[in-house]
Amino acid sequence: MPIPKSEKIWHNGKLIPWDDAKIHVLSHVVNYGSSLFEGIRCYELPSGPAIFRLAEHMQRLVNSAKIYRMTLPYSRQELERAAVEVVRVNGMRHCYLRPIALRGYGEIGVHPHGTPIDVYIACWDWGKYLGPDADQGVDVCVSSWNRMAPNTLPAMAKASANYMNAQLIRMEAEINGYAEGIALDARGFLSEGSGENVFVVTGGKLLTPPLSASVLPGITRDSVLTLCRELNLPAQEQDIPREMLYLADEVFFCGTAAEITPLRSIDRIPVGSGKRGPITEQLQKEFFAIVEGKRSDRHGWLTPVPAPRPAAVGANL
Ligand SMILES: Cc1ncc(COP(=O)(O)O)c(C=O)c1O
Repeated sequence: MPIPKSEKIWHNGKLIPWDDAKIHVLSHVVNYGSSLFEGIRCYELPSGPAIFRLAEHMQRLVNSAKIYRMTLPYSRQELERAAVEVVRVNGMRHCYLRPIALRGYGEIGVHPHGTPIDVYIACWDWGKYLGPDADQGVDVCVSSWNRMAPNTLPAMAKASANYMNAQLIRMEAEINGYAEGIALDARGFLSEGSGENVFVVTGGKLLTPPLSASVLPGITRDSVLTLCRELNLPAQEQDIPREMLYLADEVFFCGTAAEITPLRSIDRIPVGSGKRGPITEQLQKEFFAIVEGKRSDRHGWLTPVPAPRPAAVGANL
């Protein structure tokens, strides 16, 4: 399904029509994969739209840029303001936001030299990532593809190039009839899904792979760890052998797109009872209560978006 268009996209400080957000085929990014991005959700609360963990997402974009020696022309705070603005001018009640920083059209050759850096922020309406009933559980497989080995492509950067690996994982999973694939790291320990972090629940304890297992430092993962502390659920980061997936009581994905999604089978082996487990359900409920405004936002995770007012195309922001 094509992306449902919103009206405007933020580009280098200006709002431009959706259809004008185009780049040249010889841009550095097209040739060499040099772009960094974020995926952020804006939720509909009774008080109006609010963006989930905006500062942390923009900080991760700034971090990705630092790793790749890309000097962003905007500060984290400016990017945050731009994100709020793009949601507001598009009059979105809830949406998905996609900030992208890319190396544009300039010199050709792997070294970017003076190639300009373009920053865009788009938003659109996006529903459940792993299907409409995903909150009840999905069937997944362990991928034949591993995540990137350490010191190859940095997993801590959310770089588009990493998603060539993710595409292999996801395409293989879908061709074989699964909703998603879980990759192991180069050592054979559990890493993550093509677009989600993974938690395993065993004996009432939650485990998730550490950053050294080639995972993206997920912001939902961090939110889950925070909720576990609050709910007195023991949780820790540790290396997880593959076979623990099959023996776990519960396993779930977490991520901006997937939110908290239970896994009901892995490689056709039922996870626990083959249904969403009680700890996953408890965390899901707590998470959604916060992002739906039913429970207080005690961690300051939500950035409210003011009511829309018309803004002229091309206006400086
Ligand atoms: C590879 C990968 N891992 C994990 C995640 C989850 O990260 P977050 O919770 O910040 O969306 C994502 C999604 O951004 C991802 O693409």
